[in-house]
Amino acid sequence: MIAALLLMVQAQNPCQPCHLQIVASYAKTAMARTSAKDTSILRSAEPFFEPITKTTFRITPTLELQFSKPDAFEGTRQLDWVIGSGRVGHSLLFTQGNRLFQSPLSYYTEAAKWQLSPGFQRRPQLDLTRVVEPSCLNCHTSSFNPATLALEPGISCERCHGHSPQHIATAGKVAALNPKKLPAHERDSVCAQCHLTGSARVAKFRPSGDTYQPGKKLSDYSAIFVGGQAEVSSTIGVTSHYENLALSRCKIASSDKLTCTTCHDPHSEPENASAYFNGKCQSCHQDKPCSTEPKGDCIHCHMPKGAGRGVDHSSYTNHSIPRRVNEAKPAISSALTSFWSNSANSRDLGLAYAVTGKANEAKPLLEAASKTNPRDIQVLSQLAQIHDREGREDLARPLYESILKLEPANATACTNLAVILVKAGSTNEAILLWRLALKANPAQTGVRMNLAQALFRQGNRAAAAAEIEQALKYDPDQPAARRLLQQLKP
Ligand code: HEC
Ligand code: HEC
Ligand code: HEC
Ligand code: HEC
Ligand code: HEC
Ligand code: HEC
Ligand code: HEC
Repeated sequence: MIAALLLMVQAQNPCQPCHLQIVASYAKTAMARTSAKDTSILRSAEPFFEPITKTTFRITPTLELQFSKPDAFEGTRQLDWVIGSGRVGHSLLFTQGNRLFQSPLSYYTEAAKWQLSPGFQRRPQLDLTRVVEPSCLNCHTSSFNPATLALEPGISCERCHGHSPQHIATAGKVAALNPKKLPAHERDSVCAQCHLTGSARVAKFRPSGDTYQPGKKLSDYSAIFVGGQAEVSSTIGVTSHYENLALSRCKIASSDKLTCTTCHDPHSEPENASAYFNGKCQSCHQDKPCSTEPKGDCIHCHMPKGAGRGVDHSSYTNHSIPRRVNEAKPAISSALTSFWSNSANSRDLGLAYAVTGKANEAKPLLEAASKTNPRDIQVLSQLAQIHDREGREDLARPLYESILKLEPANATACTNLAVILVKAGSTNEAILLWRLALKANPAQTGVRMNLAQALFRQGNRAAAAAEIEQALKYDPDQPAARRLLQQLKP
């Protein structure tokens, strides 16, 4: 399998002719293999009953996901993309209509089993409507085009080295970007684009709409906040390596000298982790050695593994490098604070409060920001939703209207403004907005049921029934919708 993969990568990789060794070794890493079309790595599963959703599943050898619930529904989805190299597990994606969706089942390597995907345990119904967020594909693929659903699997050299046709054309005379030669913040941004999430990650307002590229400061594109949680968790977040490393004595005392690549070679994974990392620790700890008589590997005692937060059967390495194995992690501030000092403004903080559910703190900051910049859709949208939840439709409505002037198919504004319009008696306008929202994402059951209800109230039984049928096509585990459909059908 690896050999076949290698051939594939070599055939396509534009760097291969001159950097053969790096291309070959990189192809074996988890990052190069983090997404794939090749599903032969996965095993089929005989029919089994999943107790939370009470659904019977079967996975065929060609990776068709079959599901059924007696007297309710049955159906299939073709799983066509694998996400995750398999150290912990594989998530899968399927295409339906004009969207990519996340499969409700993932494969967990340690347990060697198919189980509900992370986050899917919260809902007792079978959920087939979870559209894959762009951020997910930004971290797990080289590129993704939401219009065509074209996806370039794996993480390409360019994600860290940028695009440099000149470098190739001049056979290396024009230098390619080398992260090692960048100033510390720009250097660290290369890995942080995917390895730093914090408690909230907020997109900066950029009128040009350009996105982060290697060589730039990530903090000009994303404001990342840490802290702000009520309690400190003992588990380790999947993408919390930055936050944890920042808490270590090693990092605090070495500052910019210590970075991810001090210990990790981005192009290969060590064959003997213990020996490899011992050498890395000792490169700094010759002068200040371990105070005990160490009889073993540095990382065994100082970088222990712990359970991953929110993901079953996963374990992650403690990057806060504690003095003692069981030492509690140093507390992160209980207030939301910018990970990179001075890189976030009050608008960014307002959005961070909003996405972490702190409406009272968010409101005054977002109100001020919406006045400073009335074209900032993220700010208008969060502020409108806060007003909406507080029952202040009079304040929410003009904000949704402003958003739709800037972005006519904005999903949140379409769906929420439609609800306000229906209450105000403007059913026809609401129907138009709901249809617009469903065109962008056809798998929104709530929106479609609202639309069906509005059509029904207008006396259009057949159109209402057609919408409910459509809703059930995407989201079959909806007993109430099924009953309604039976009543509507002659
Ligand atoms: C036609 C040959 C050729 C191709 C194709 C090529 N390189 Fe290079 N590259 C070179 C040579 C030669 C050097 C060494 C230049 C030097 O040391 O002065 C180099 C050096 C580099 C460096 C180090 C630059 C530095 O300043 O430290 C990086 C990074 C790099 N290449 C990345 C890439 C990437 C990524 C690709 C594919 C997108 C690529 N190269 C494709 C020939 C090539
Ligand atoms: C485009 C996103 C992206 C960038 C940029 C990126 N990573 Fe990763 N990295 C990932 C993903 C996704 C995984 C998980 C791969 C998997 O197991 O499926 C990962 C996994 C890893 C791992 C774990 C490998 C293992 O054995 O499980 C290390 C170490 C790592 N990255 C280091 C780095 C370093 C160092 C940098 C910067 C030089 C970097 N990454 C840049 C996305 C990225
Ligand atoms: C901010 C970047 C980021 C986002 C967003 C993200 N991931 Fe990841 N994911 C990672 C990194 C980094 C790792 C590796 C962590 C590690 O090994 O410690 C990872 C690990 C995984 C793994 C385990 C891979 C393995 O076997 O080691 C799976 C599966 C996965 N992610 C799926 C997803 C899916 C599906 C989504 C979106 C619905 C998603 N991730 C969103 C960065 C991200
Ligand atoms: C996850 C990010 C990442 C990816 C992906 C990546 N590189 Fe690198 N690369 C780096 C970093 C960081 C350095 C500097 C390493 C250091 O600090 O010594 C580097 C250094 C280099 C160098 C300079 C010489 C050397 O050996 O250090 C070359 C050449 C290079 N990379 C080529 C490639 C090619 C070709 C690919 C794709 C097969 C690739 N890189 C993929 C991050 C990456
Ligand atoms: C870039 C240099 C560097 C590297 C690499 C490094 N450290 Fe450190 N480490 C330091 C410095 C500097 C200190 C602080 C010393 C002091 O406070 O006097 C430190 C402190 C520590 C401490 C004491 C922590 C405490 O809370 O008192 C431990 C334990 C430690 N390092 C273990 C490790 C291990 C294990 C590794 C390898 C996985 C490692 N270090 C890699 C520079 C480094
Ligand atoms: C002082 C050394 C050191 C530094 C610095 C360091 N790591 Fe690690 N990292 C490790 C060790 C040790 C492991 C465990 C490797 C193993 O068990 O094979 C690890 C594992 C990982 C993994 C695999 C998943 C896990 O948690 O076990 C990821 C992803 C990762 N590191 C990302 C990063 C990122 C991103 C940075 C920079 C913010 C970074 N690391 C900095 C030593 C380091
Ligand atoms: C068997 C477990 C174990 C191993 C293996 C181990 N350490 Fe330690 N180390 C400890 C303990 C426990 C302490 C704290 C002792 C104390 O607080 O009095 C410590 C303390 C330290 C300190 C702080 C020293 C000081 O004076 O403040 C450093 C630095 C350190 N270790 C580095 C290392 C390095 C580097 C390695 C690998 C060569 C290593 N340790 C291997 C258990 C271990």
